[in-house]
Amino acid sequence: MTIYFIDGQFTKKDSLNISIDDRGYYFGDGVYEVVKVYDGELFTAEEHIERLFQSASKIKLAIPYSEQQLIDIAKELVKANDVKTGHVYMQVTRGASPRVHQFPELAVTPVVTGYAIHSPRPIKNIEGGVSVKTVEDVRWLRCDIKSLNLLANVLAKQEAHEADCTEAIFIRDGVVTEGSSSNAFGVKDGVVITHPATNLILNGITRRVVLELCKELGISVEERGFTHDEMNEMDEFFITSTTSEITPVVNIDGKAVGSGTPGDVTKKLQEAFARQIPLSVARD
Ligand code: PDD
Repeated sequence: MTIYFIDGQFTKKDSLNISIDDRGYYFGDGVYEVVKVYDGELFTAEEHIERLFQSASKIKLAIPYSEQQLIDIAKELVKANDVKTGHVYMQVTRGASPRVHQFPELAVTPVVTGYAIHSPRPIKNIEGGVSVKTVEDVRWLRCDIKSLNLLANVLAKQEAHEADCTEAIFIRDGVVTEGSSSNAFGVKDGVVITHPATNLILNGITRRVVLELCKELGISVEERGFTHDEMNEMDEFFITSTTSEITPVVNIDGKAVGSGTPGDVTKKLQEAFARQIPLSVARD
């Protein structure tokens, strides 16, 4: 049975004191993070919690804990749920108050909730690659905020799912931005190309790890928006996220990418990434 963190307590109940008036429930008025767990240890936890505070600050939300306290809560959730390979989910909403759009007049305490669950690494996708579908990016202009408001992402992922694809890739004004829950990268003539970390994408933690690995491996990088047409001409394509790591994309809108199998640059990056995580879970 999952142990949750709700209302300052570790509890088996999944809705302890969660109010119908919670602004997360009404408005998606909150922020969240997903942190990977390998071998019972949090991976890049500081970076995730730092981004949680940045997202909160961008929506003028004060988290009632310190960064260290949230890391300690995440660690406790991993322990309490005995998670070896999996992830921690944490979210903060603006709290519970009768429904009006503007912030509550009276100070309300933001609601912090979280849990840790077992989830195996998606080895089949990581090794064999996935298919993706392109969709129009109809999201707002603050995609740099990891907001709970994910309706456009949900609809995009569902559209991809119905087309037997693993991920939806957003296109805004003819330019590839990112996936519905991942960052997107193309490889052309050995150069890794990805959208710059502007307001139009979430600056993924895995994205940052990959850019660092490119530097270490001497792989050239261009952080620039590339067009839908360029995307269709890439030698390789891959997506990154906390849960999908580095996943090769072998098919875009029904057309094979390159040879239709994971490319050499992608595989090199995957190998370097695998060296960063504990060996005992490398195949979990
Ligand atoms: N999603 N872009 C979007 C829109 C995302 O939702 C995510 C992550 C990423 C990749 O970020 P990171 O490498 O920090 O996980 C990019 C998480 C995993 C989710 O919503 O489940």
